[in-house]
Amino acid sequence: EKGGYPTFMEKEIHEQPHAVADTLLGRTDESGALILDDLRIPEERLRRVERVTIVACGTAAYAGMVAKYAIERWTRIPVEVALAHEFRYCDPIVDESTLVVSISQSGETMDTLMAVRHAAELGAMTLSICNTHGSTIPRASDAVLYTHAGPEVAVASTKAFLAQITACYLLGLYLAQLRGETYADDAKAVLRELHAMPERIGRLLGRMDRVREMAEFMADTRSVLFLGRHMGFPVAMEGALKLKELAYIHAEGFAAGELKHGPIALIEPGQPVFVVVPGPDTPHDLHRKVVSNIQEIRARGARTLVIAHDDDEDVEPFASEVVRIPPCPPMLAPLLAVVPLQVFALHLASAKGLDVDQPRNLAKSVTVE
Ligand code: M6R
Repeated sequence: EKGGYPTFMEKEIHEQPHAVADTLLGRTDESGALILDDLRIPEERLRRVERVTIVACGTAAYAGMVAKYAIERWTRIPVEVALAHEFRYCDPIVDESTLVVSISQSGETMDTLMAVRHAAELGAMTLSICNTHGSTIPRASDAVLYTHAGPEVAVASTKAFLAQITACYLLGLYLAQLRGETYADDAKAVLRELHAMPERIGRLLGRMDRVREMAEFMADTRSVLFLGRHMGFPVAMEGALKLKELAYIHAEGFAAGELKHGPIALIEPGQPVFVVVPGPDTPHDLHRKVVSNIQEIRARGARTLVIAHDDDEDVEPFASEVVRIPPCPPMLAPLLAVVPLQVFALHLASAKGLDVDQPRNLAKSVTVE
C-alpha cells in the first residue's frame, strides 16, 4: 500500500504532481467559470464579497497565507488569515459580506470546525476547501471546493498542502471572474501556467538526491532557520514546521525582512539557514532583496542553503548549497519551493532513525480542542 516507497510520507511527496493535476481537473465549464462541488451561496452574493477571512491550523494555515497573496493580487479583496483556534476567541469582525474560507485536509479538525460554526452564526458565507469527502467541515459549510489529493496517511501533510494551494488559486481566479475583472495578471495565462505545474513538480522530484545527502549529512544538527519573503515566507514557515514535527529539531521560519529586527542575532558560524529565493521577475525587486539577505547572513558565517530558480546566477557567490527549482511565474512558486523542504525533513528524520509517518505526540487529525 506504500507503492514501493519505504514510508507513506515519501509516497505522498511523490504523488504531488497528481494531487495538483487532479485538483485542477474538470474545474472549469465551457465559459471558463470554476465549478464548486457544492455551492449553497447565490452567485450574486459571492459577487458582493467585501472581505475574505481564511481559517485553518498548521500546514493548512500556511496554504492560507500563500492564498492571501494570490487572492488579494487577483481580486483586490482584502484577505485575512487567522489560526482557527485564535479566530474563535478574538470576537472576529465578520458579517454577511465576509466569505470565511476554511482549509482542512481531514475536514475533522475541531478548532477549524468551531471557527466555521462561529462564522456562520455571525452571518458570514462559509466555504470549505477540504480533502475528505463527506467530512464534518464541508457539511457545516455553505460551499465546498474539494482538493483531490487522495487519502493522506502520513501525519505530516505534504500533497494535501500543494492541493490546498492549488484550490486557493482557483478560488482567487473564480472570485476575480465573478467580479468581472482580474487585476495584475491575466487569468487565462495563470490557469495555463497552473496546468504546467504538475510536470514541473515531477521534474523537481527527480533531482532531490543532493537534498537527501544534505539531510543525511546534517543528522546531528540542533537548529535550522528558514527565510523567505512574500509567498516565500509561508513556505519558510512550512519548511520549519516539517522539520519540527518529523525530526524534532528546533526550526524557525522568518520573513527575511525581519532579520535585522532581531533574528540576525541568532546567526553564528555554521548555523544552517534555508533561504527561499523568489524568481528574478518577482515584483517589487524582491529577488534582489532576498539575495542581499543571503549576503548578510553569509557574511556572519551562516551555512546558506539556497532554493533558487534554474536560471538564477545571482545567488551563487553567497550560497553554501543551491537547490534548483524549475522556473515558473512568481505567484505559483510555492508549489515548487516547498518540495525540497519536505524532502529535507523526511530524510533528516529518517537519518535519525525516527518514525516518519507517525511522529511522537501527534495525531493525523486533531479532533479535540
Ligand atoms: O486536517 P487539517 O488540514 O485540518 O489539519 C491541520 C493541521 O493539524 C495539520 O496541517 C498539521 O499541522 C500537520 N501535522 C502538518 O504537517
